[in-house]
Amino acid sequence: MGFNLAILISGRGSNMLNIVDACNNKVLSSKVKIVISNNKNSVGLDKAIKRGIKTKIISENKINKFEKKLSQTLNDEKINFICLAGFMRILSEDFLFDWKKKIINIHPSILPAFKGLNAVKKAIEKKVKYTGCTIHYVDKGIDTGEIIDQRIVRVLKTDNEENLAKKILKEEHILYIKVIEILEKEHNNGKDR
Ligand code: GRF
Repeated sequence: MGFNLAILISGRGSNMLNIVDACNNKVLSSKVKIVISNNKNSVGLDKAIKRGIKTKIISENKINKFEKKLSQTLNDEKINFICLAGFMRILSEDFLFDWKKKIINIHPSILPAFKGLNAVKKAIEKKVKYTGCTIHYVDKGIDTGEIIDQRIVRVLKTDNEENLAKKILKEEHILYIKVIEILEKEHNNGKDR
């Protein structure tokens, strides 16, 4: 038995869609119960709807109002695990405390390098030879939570931000599924971290 997942997005939603498909194809044993966006214009919402997934927009500006509605929705849907996938809002310490080790995020760099926004641009500017992606538990810092797993991408001299982002995204899709699979197994063995 997998998780009852909620996926939180703000934009394109390619990681979200990839997780939805892996659940639908039984690659994962979890179920995506709902996709939530803080941005009503998030194109990912339509992609979820097309897959028959329930969606919700929570666009409250004030964080306490936002989180009150979010918590209500998570309760209603009996969610026991949250995946952030391009979700561009910072959650409060109180909320994260309630979801400790039950909320993960994906970031397009090998953390702790290039935290925060524009991680791919920063990798190009620093002329690093390798970058990649990281999945980590979410804590109160930005991209500082315990690292679960990472995948590496070689940076070529000819790479620009756009094509490097594409290469990283491919690895993100692989990594997210792999990590959920591992966490499902731990959960089933009663070994939640
Ligand atoms: C990904 O690069 C992810 O690492 C970052 O935001 C982007 C989201 O892409 N946190 P998508 O919305 O999943 O396509």
